[in-house]
Amino acid sequence: MEKAMSDFVYYNPVKVLFGKNKINELGALIPDGKKVLITYGGGSVKRFGTLDRVKEALHSHIVGEFGGIEANPTYSTCMEAVKQFKEGRYDYLLAVGGGSVIDGTKFIAAAIAFDGDPKDIFGQGIGKGLPVESAVPFGSVLTLPATASEMNETSVITFKEEKAKISFSSKHVFPEFSILEPELTYTLPKRQLANGITDAFVHVIEQYLTYPVKGMVQDEFAEGLLRVLIEIGPDVVDEDNHDYALRANYMWTATLALNRLISRGVPGDWSTHGLGHEITVLNNTDHARSLSAILPAVMVVRKLKKWDKLVQYAEKVWGITEGTEEAKIDAAILKTVAFFKSIDMPTNLSDVGVEEADIDTLVRQLKDHGNEAISERGDQTLDVSREIYQKAL
Ligand code: NZQ
Ligand code: ZN
Repeated sequence: MEKAMSDFVYYNPVKVLFGKNKINELGALIPDGKKVLITYGGGSVKRFGTLDRVKEALHSHIVGEFGGIEANPTYSTCMEAVKQFKEGRYDYLLAVGGGSVIDGTKFIAAAIAFDGDPKDIFGQGIGKGLPVESAVPFGSVLTLPATASEMNETSVITFKEEKAKISFSSKHVFPEFSILEPELTYTLPKRQLANGITDAFVHVIEQYLTYPVKGMVQDEFAEGLLRVLIEIGPDVVDEDNHDYALRANYMWTATLALNRLISRGVPGDWSTHGLGHEITVLNNTDHARSLSAILPAVMVVRKLKKWDKLVQYAEKVWGITEGTEEAKIDAAILKTVAFFKSIDMPTNLSDVGVEEADIDTLVRQLKDHGNEAISERGDQTLDVSREIYQKAL
């Protein structure tokens, strides 16, 4: 087992503008003369006035709109935006929304510039998995802190016909800038606030709960982010609590949870995400709800593999110092479940409408998408994944 950090490169060129009224700076952020296609989701940005603020800030630019990017953005919807962009001779994209709109826009940006069939940007049973060599420049205005898509180079796209949810990553799809106004979270309903806290929590866990490699800073940062999420989670999900300091901490914590800072040089897992995506493909469960339904079972089934880090998690995140190592681990797993429950998140598969009879389908999907050797050591076989689904029932 590795006992030191592995070599790494850390590259993150995203300019973050955090605070109040940052949308007003859009006009200066996008170069003069650019024709901007603004992308958004199902209409929340229209309903709550964000789109009007964006257009006002861009009054000196020529802008167009592409709305209708759905939660769990689909390939076919994004390809409609590609068509509009090319026909309208646009040259810049601006995503205004949550992770789905930003992810969709990353793919749109890559597909416009891609030489060949854009499906080949994806591997895992969809296309050839070819590298993205360039992309149209874009920025984002974040309306839902959860995914950190605003400060990373990953996009997750849903293929309805193929029944798949597949990601691609490329340094060419970092946003040029992201605007983070905590006040934009004031219109989020409780369900999305809880989703955001949970997604961020599981992102940190997947980069932390593996095996120790003496990544002292990575561990301390990860533990700090988890403690903040545990502390603020119950207040954040109160949709009427528009405390600025609270929402500012929520927004920045979610971004830091997956801007790759804590993952450099240390192992990562991502099996909870892998198993969760198949649930979303199966019945359209919200991304974060698929994660909280699976994570407790991952902790139980992979207890021996994650032993040292589970003990550390119990001690440093939950402050559990009494008892044997195993008692600490078991207490920490119970605390994790109680935390999810306290913010009304599901903690097992029946909570998200998955039955025992679905497990064969979920495991088959994992196989179709090349997820036969996942987790930090690549030793999570389909049989182990089946055991996790079974345990999560
Ligand atoms: O579509 P509209 O009408 O805008 O409504 C959205 C949507 O229904 C609504 N919403 C967003 N901001 C709002 C708001 N409602 C009121 N006020 C606001 N300020 O919230 C709903 C959910 O939005 P969505 O963007 O789907 O949520 P989220 O940010 O959780 O994104 C989830 C997607 O990101 C992917 C997930 O798989 C999923 O497809 N992920 C992306 C990652 C990445 N790029 O690194 C990593 C993650 O693990 C994740 O896989
Ligand atoms: Zn996630």
